[in-house]
Amino acid sequence: MPLGSPDEQAQLNADARWDDFNPALYVEKNYSRVLSVDETIMSLVRTHFGDHFRELPGQSVHGIDVGAGANLYPALSMLPWCDRITLLDRSKANLEYLRQQIAGHDDGWESFWRKLCLDGAYAAMPGGPWARLTEVARVEQGDILQPGDRRGRWRTGTMFFVAESFSTSIDEFHRAVKNFLEMLTPGAPFAAAFMEHSHGYWVGDTWFPACNVSQADISASIKRTTTSVRTYRIGEPGEVRPGYTSIILACGFR
Ligand SMILES: C[S@@+](CC[C@H](N)C(=O)[O-])C[C@H]1O[C@@H](n2cnc3c(N)ncnc32)[C@H](O)[C@@H]1O
Repeated sequence: MPLGSPDEQAQLNADARWDDFNPALYVEKNYSRVLSVDETIMSLVRTHFGDHFRELPGQSVHGIDVGAGANLYPALSMLPWCDRITLLDRSKANLEYLRQQIAGHDDGWESFWRKLCLDGAYAAMPGGPWARLTEVARVEQGDILQPGDRRGRWRTGTMFFVAESFSTSIDEFHRAVKNFLEMLTPGAPFAAAFMEHSHGYWVGDTWFPACNVSQADISASIKRTTTSVRTYRIGEPGEVRPGYTSIILACGFR
């Protein structure tokens, strides 16, 4: 049995205890400081979005972060380019965390913003990021496996550590990737991050499932919906936690 996981049985997305996800413990473990892997991800995503949107000044852009959970940096990476950002999640606990952070963020997120500010578009944001985040971000309960009328609505998007970190099912992994991409408008720049060959993970005493996918599986899944994508391997095996081989970042266009 890997890493003290309760068992190796299949656990579908609907079977996991999302409302028991503890955002404070998750942030403490993963985002209490900027790890070098997060710094690398932010640098690549910032360049990907900046190169695209700098050529399109003055546009009204609505972005979405799917499975936003307890991580503000995907939304912060979209902030200079968006006049609206939807933070979508299915967990009541994480939705409440996001609402609290939008109303008044914890100091820890400042260091993530400072890394993004190595690019002038972020550093020059009038009034700084926090008032702007409060103004543009909207928290929404939703399920990426049930997109409903959410197709083709967002002009940029992020989905970090969701499709492979929310179920053991390869079918649900592919559906989450496809639904995320189909929520975007044609040509929209996106960034998605994945844990390769993850066994699953604990948040406090609660076990959450993962789907064991490789960089090639991730790339192939994205290419079922769009061929315009580049993937990166980031960090060493087990650098963030035990039980995975690498972070895979995918940057592309819908
Ligand atoms: C491993 S956490 C990743 C959180 C955050 N994106 C990050 O970068 O750390 C997985 C997130 O997916 C959310 N989630 C799980 N199932 C979902 C679903 N069906 N639709 C949308 N979000 C879901 C969870 O509530 C949780 O916030």
